[in-house]
Amino acid sequence: MKDFTKTIISTLLLSVASVASAADRPSKAIAVLIPTQGQQASGTVLFTQTDKGVEVVADINGLKPGDHGFHIHEYGDCSAPDGTSAGEHFNPKDKHHASPQNNDRHAGDLGNIKADDKGKAHYTTLDKFISLKGTKNIIGRSVIVHADQDDLKTQPSGNAGARIACGVIGIATP
Ligand code: CU
Ligand code: ZN
Repeated sequence: MKDFTKTIISTLLLSVASVASAADRPSKAIAVLIPTQGQQASGTVLFTQTDKGVEVVADINGLKPGDHGFHIHEYGDCSAPDGTSAGEHFNPKDKHHASPQNNDRHAGDLGNIKADDKGKAHYTTLDKFISLKGTKNIIGRSVIVHADQDDLKTQPSGNAGARIACGVIGIATP
């Protein structure tokens, strides 16, 4: 009887815990990128929370072949025709701009996406500096693609040029 009661209670606790974590922590987020004024770049960026960080999968098209700066910016506001309403790079820890491989950098520094000769870029990474909850939460912020390559060192944003696509990060279908 005692064991039976224990089993019931632990089963109940487990189901309560999984419902609670599903409710207060979305496991997936998405940004649908729309071209800024006069631009053609568009696509989607999917974010999936894992135990090791956030998996990022981007598929962008309408790009000039080559590297393009790719960042999470602080505000989820793509309303300005040139994308400047998205603010600067997401930087909750007050760091300098750097490469995604650098441990001392803006949380939003995802480096570059590389477009092929058809103007398509596919990018994947696993990032520990961002999250879908807490102080590193990126939901409600934005993803920006730039006209030029991020040189990964020039302050404050890698000299990546104009903002050619912008998308607000929202909660995705699980
Ligand atoms: Cu940027
Ligand atoms: Zn940066």
